[in-house]
Amino acid sequence: MARFLVEKSGPLHGEVEISGSKNAVLPIMAAAILTDETCEIMDVPVLRDVDVMCKLLNSIGSETKANYEENIIEIQSKNIIAEEAPYELVKKMRASILVMGPLLARMGKAKISLPGGCAIGARPINLHLKGFQALGAEIVEGHGYVEATADKLVGCNVYLDFPSVGATENIMMAAVLAEGTTIVENVAEEPEIVDLANFLNKMGAKIKGAGTDTIKIEGVEKLHGTKHAVIPDRIETGTFMVAAAITRGNILLKNIVPDHVKPVIAKLKECGVIVEDGDDGMRVRGDIHPLISTDIKTLPYPGFPTDMQSQFMAFLTTVSGSSVVIETVFENRYMHIGELNRMGANIKIEGRSAIIQGDRALQGAQVISTDLRAGAALVLAGMMAEGTTEISEVYHIERGYSDFIEKFRALGANIRRIED
Ligand code: UD1
Repeated sequence: MARFLVEKSGPLHGEVEISGSKNAVLPIMAAAILTDETCEIMDVPVLRDVDVMCKLLNSIGSETKANYEENIIEIQSKNIIAEEAPYELVKKMRASILVMGPLLARMGKAKISLPGGCAIGARPINLHLKGFQALGAEIVEGHGYVEATADKLVGCNVYLDFPSVGATENIMMAAVLAEGTTIVENVAEEPEIVDLANFLNKMGAKIKGAGTDTIKIEGVEKLHGTKHAVIPDRIETGTFMVAAAITRGNILLKNIVPDHVKPVIAKLKECGVIVEDGDDGMRVRGDIHPLISTDIKTLPYPGFPTDMQSQFMAFLTTVSGSSVVIETVFENRYMHIGELNRMGANIKIEGRSAIIQGDRALQGAQVISTDLRAGAALVLAGMMAEGTTEISEVYHIERGYSDFIEKFRALGANIRRIED
């Protein structure tokens, strides 16, 4: 098992190029199942999750050709040979559930073992199933699996009880080949939803309203192959912004969409961090003003992203004053708090709120990366801690950050990876 060793580092300086979005590329790869023609996906991040999605697509009969040096993946799904996503892959990555909508649309049947992924709450899939059912599928839930079947899918109206990202994507992918019009209300508005809708529309789908709370999908008979470049990763962007802030550094971020990180920019500015948008990228400076506390509440987009909560919390332990963070999206996303406290942070949990005392002198410790973003938070904390921080279970981090160690080392971070 690999571990990361982090020493006190910084202030970080230099430039970093942000990779393509993990959460955009995964549904887009799944959507390629919807046509028998070749889809070429560009700006693909080199990640373990992308590799798992390739294996998953191969297991159902798609052919995937990855050219990671050029960040391109070609997918052709001429002959789908199985409608089932195998447990060995699903347990590694929750986003495997995203093959269900396109498989149902293309084959009239989709079966999936119940997913794994990050241990951040119960993460049910009832809203995905609600959408499939509304489109006319019959759902059978067995021990550890769920199956959807339909002779044909028919357009419908669906209201999501919560704007789930995955459910919005899955329902959209199932509805593109349905007969008639589907209207889905209270959907997620994340940029990754817009990217998926753009990809599907390039394949010949007729989707309107992506990026608002209501999406209208007019079913079409057939989709065709296309080329598409994935949007930059807004969570990787946010993580490097916080890296500049926590180390009191000065980083220029390239290949970013400032609009996608508005809440992170707003909160960093409240803390006294300088964020300047220029022609050559976005410069983030934590080295100008003394930094102070702020409060955060995670919300669906365009609110503050839950995927940035743990990294921001690590930062808040180092500023003056106390802060309150409220996590509203996932019910169990405070696993990093125990680890940060082991490093000398003073964070108390009260229900869904975390109260963070700032100005802490962090100390290196042995800690566990409990999920992808929690792992990133521990790395950031490690850069401000005296001594060595040894982070285990870093496979979580490698699931979702491309060239993580290399990018941080290039900015002056003292971090290395060791294999046991
Ligand atoms: C996606 C992202 C993940 C991010 C999350 C929220 C991908 C691959 N992953 O995950 O990084 O943290 O959005 O921004 O894009 N829920 C239900 N029933 C459902 C589905 C979801 O109750 O059928 C609940 C979940 O338990 C959770 C909340 O809705 O509390 C948000 O989940 P959702 O938006 O679906 O997240 P994911 O798509 O799994």
